[in-house]
Amino acid sequence: MSATLSFAGAERAADFAAVHATAFTPSWSARDIVELFDGVGVFGLLADAPGPVGMMLCRVVADDCEVLTIAVDPQARRQGVAHALVQAALLAAAQAGATAAFLEVAVDNPAAEALYAGLGFRRIATRRGYYSRPGGQEVDALVMRIDLNAALP
Ligand SMILES: CC(C)(COP(=O)(O)OP(=O)(O)OC[C@H]1O[C@@H](n2cnc3c(N)ncnc32)[C@H](O)[C@@H]1OP(=O)(O)O)[C@@H](O)C(=O)NCCC(=O)NCCS
Repeated sequence: MSATLSFAGAERAADFAAVHATAFTPSWSARDIVELFDGVGVFGLLADAPGPVGMMLCRVVADDCEVLTIAVDPQARRQGVAHALVQAALLAAAQAGATAAFLEVAVDNPAAEALYAGLGFRRIATRRGYYSRPGGQEVDALVMRIDLNAALP
């Protein structure tokens, strides 16, 4: 897909929220996203094709980058949008001083795990009952990490 990637902030909170809502229930509101951007080290990426079809939020604190969320509209999936978003985010994180990136992914989300593994993230831990699903079901999370010094050119 020929999506255009760009860094964006709170001024496009509605677009971040719209894409997030295509992928998550409950989803993050535009207000939630504005509040996130108030936090230290938070940056965001949007993929437009030309409307918003992909979004990603990360936080860099000291040496670490945390992937807060990533979502691609179902109609735009399996076309490399998420791969391009993560690559761009990792490069930006390294430029901001991060030496490693971390994320949590639900154990029942093989698509996301495959995305991250394909980019070089490796499992380092499991967090029991990290996610609570609507209805109360608890789901474990895999913690995945990538060493940015080794992974980036
Ligand atoms: C996970 C998600 C972001 C992937 O977005 P995407 O743009 O479709 O991903 P890409 O097209 O860039 O795929 C890159 C790689 O990820 C893996 N992948 C992506 N979707 C997959 C699927 N449905 N099944 C298996 N592997 C998948 C593949 O390895 C793929 O490479 P390939 O197409 O060459 O096989 C998207 O499915 C999504 O928004 N899911 C709901 C939200 C979510 O789970 N976010 C992650 C939370 S940790």
